[in-house]
Amino acid sequence: MEPANREDASPWPRHGGQARALLARFGLPPDHSFEDFSANLNPLGPPGWVPAWLERHLSELSRYPDVDYVEARAAIAAHHGVSRDQVLVTNGGGEAIFLAAGLCAGGRAGVFAPTFSEYARALAGVGAEVREIAPADPLDDLDAVFLCRPNNPDGRLLPLSEVETLLARAAAVNCRLIVDEAFIDLTTDNADANALPARLATHPQLILLRSMTKFYTLPGLRLGYALASEALIAAMARRQPPWSVNQLAAGLTAPLLADTDFAARTHAWLAVERPRMQVALERRGLEVAPGETCFFLLRPNLEARRQGLDAEALLERLLRGGILARHTHGYAGLDGGWLRLALRDKDANNRLLKVLDDCLR
Ligand SMILES: Cc1ncc(COP(=O)(O)O)c(C=O)c1O
Repeated sequence: MEPANREDASPWPRHGGQARALLARFGLPPDHSFEDFSANLNPLGPPGWVPAWLERHLSELSRYPDVDYVEARAAIAAHHGVSRDQVLVTNGGGEAIFLAAGLCAGGRAGVFAPTFSEYARALAGVGAEVREIAPADPLDDLDAVFLCRPNNPDGRLLPLSEVETLLARAAAVNCRLIVDEAFIDLTTDNADANALPARLATHPQLILLRSMTKFYTLPGLRLGYALASEALIAAMARRQPPWSVNQLAAGLTAPLLADTDFAARTHAWLAVERPRMQVALERRGLEVAPGETCFFLLRPNLEARRQGLDAEALLERLLRGGILARHTHGYAGLDGGWLRLALRDKDANNRLLKVLDDCLR
């Protein structure tokens, strides 16, 4: 078994946005200017109407939110075609991860490495044993498996047929399958974004976790949710602090989900910009991991690495050139050998390519 959380003892900053530590590490001044390609957020958001909406609703901060979040849950339930009691509104997808992990307290859970490190951290926090597993490994002595789809950090979208197989194998041994779909609305092929919610009716051991912070570019607001059977949602709700989601986030849920124009514009951007950047990055001598979402896992190709340009050297050159990438220390199986770069709007992406041209010269 691998250690549950490699990051605690690491000298590398835990989340991508911690630029200050990286600047200091590379001897750069704290006011060194850079563009942030380390956080994976929709560059089109937040939707243009959000600031005025927030201003109109500011006065609601002087009262408590509805502790049951009836309206927000109803909007999410209608969006996915499930019942309101199958929805738990959470303080970002992050809280949903910790509440799902809470169901495994004292048990054993599997994660597919490399993946988002918060699953292992949340599980370790409730005394669960964490195992790094491979797709073919038996599940019979596990209480739960966490699957990130599409996966952070490589962006890989496990085909639906393979999720179905995993679901059947998990059901056969009474193991829960917890699928984090934080980036599912930000995949190039969005056709099956509502496929797993539709499976909840027949798969009582399935839990889906969603984030609304990435697609709508509202990470500071904090908004996410979990979908599962009524029994599992009730069990997660028992562990959730009251009023965990603020009034503005809860109130924004329905209008955000109703903004189909924003969703369509986002999908149109992704369908063009992701393939364009994939080709441009590979042409510059980078090895790009197969993926289908709004970020790239990459490293200098073998030839460049043989000449001494590894991922860390590229991270430093990029930062000197004004681009902050996400290191992969703390991701089991990657251990710093790759970098993650967000897909941004066309102009920002072009600036990245220009800096890469200098770095890779
Ligand atoms: C895979 C994955 N799931 C969930 C989250 C949590 O997102 P939030 O809590 O902002 O909704 C993140 C954030 O980086 C993530 O990468």
